[in-house]
Amino acid sequence: MDRILIRGGNRLSGRLPISGAKNAALTLMPCALLTDEPLTLRNLPRLADVDGFGHLLNQLGASTAIEGTRPEDFGRVMTIRTGKLTSTEAPYDIVRKMRASILVLGPVLARAGEARVSLPGGCAIGNRPIDLHLKALEAIGAELEMAAGYVRATAPGGRLSGGRYRFPVVSVGATENVVMAAVLARGGSVIENAAREPEIVDLCNCLVAMGARIAGIGTDTLEIEGVDRLHGATYAVMPDRIEAGSYACAAAITGGDLELVGANVADMQATTDALREAGVTVEPTRDGVRVAADGPLGPVNIATAPYPGFATDMQAQFMAMLCMAGGTSVLTETIFENRYMHVPELARMGADIQVHGRTAVVKGVDRLVGAPVMATDLRASMSLILAGLAADGETAVARVYHLDRGYERLEEKLSAVGADIERASDG
Ligand code: UD1
Repeated sequence: MDRILIRGGNRLSGRLPISGAKNAALTLMPCALLTDEPLTLRNLPRLADVDGFGHLLNQLGASTAIEGTRPEDFGRVMTIRTGKLTSTEAPYDIVRKMRASILVLGPVLARAGEARVSLPGGCAIGNRPIDLHLKALEAIGAELEMAAGYVRATAPGGRLSGGRYRFPVVSVGATENVVMAAVLARGGSVIENAAREPEIVDLCNCLVAMGARIAGIGTDTLEIEGVDRLHGATYAVMPDRIEAGSYACAAAITGGDLELVGANVADMQATTDALREAGVTVEPTRDGVRVAADGPLGPVNIATAPYPGFATDMQAQFMAMLCMAGGTSVLTETIFENRYMHVPELARMGADIQVHGRTAVVKGVDRLVGAPVMATDLRASMSLILAGLAADGETAVARVYHLDRGYERLEEKLSAVGADIERASDG
């Protein structure tokens, strides 16, 4: 299995390109199931999760074609055509490996009047149920049946009615699923306490480009007027704010100076506020965002929250960075239980972190020391990369497949700005 080897201590500087957002890509791709016309997505990141989602779409009857991209380019252009759905089922084998597969439920149900999706089961960062996806779909007219680990959703008369639903807890995925289903309903829908993440705005904008009628985009109340059909569109995936935030932490932890080319600072306010609080310079540039650290880092107290709050997907990377800050930082994880699996690994590199329930107290240390480490999820793996960039000696991060799910050509991007990093294959 591959490992990433890092010899730490290099200061990063230069221009680093930011790819299209993984989490936007994974909700834009299933939009192609809503129409028989082609949906062309530009700036789609080259990631294992995007490939995996493409295979799922293929199983449902969609064709996926990659166009006109050179190997050296970041991102790709993909045209997805679903002339006819040949299957309405997302099987266990796929959903088990990629939780985002649940996002075909809404669109398949809306298009075909029925869908069968395996229940995702456990996940490394908590138990992550899908009850809210199901309740929201029920509220707009779906009938649900559970059997043998699958949920079967049907739309009486072949088409959802539309309806009103207020989320008791903000859920990104459940908001995406119900919006994708409601756009083709017979009547209108009102979704309250909807997630407001920029990826949801991206989804709504793409659906509008396909002919959907959605008001309140970017707010927590989405009003959707169902239409009889959607048409094709060409749409560019938004830049990845979590990838950009991760590389911002890389600049900070190495005392470096990076221009994150293509990043959109407006989507990353909570991250940039926290970076500035730590003493890092963050300034918009013509092409993106410049992040520079020329003095010691200071401690920060952070609690994760739904957008526009501090993203849970940035928690692990900030923790790595704050290990090297002077003073004590307190991080509180409010979104997922069990999202501190990186803590013991950071501790093996010399970090001083105490976890009490959902709170982690990080005492800054003078140095981290390289070690063989591994993580059980994507962002936790990135936190180990960041620690490795700052550590003395060599760090070997195992289970690289987590990183390949969410960071396009990580080692190439980092070595181009001065990191001593390579991928090693153990055969
Ligand atoms: C998405 C992101 C993930 C990010 C998360 C929170 C994708 C592919 N993934 O995940 O990277 O960390 O948002 O920003 O976009 N919940 C329920 N019942 C449900 C659904 C969710 O109780 O039916 C709970 C979850 O357990 C969690 C909270 O709601 O505690 C938020 O989860 P949610 O926003 O749904 O996360 P995802 O959409 O899975």
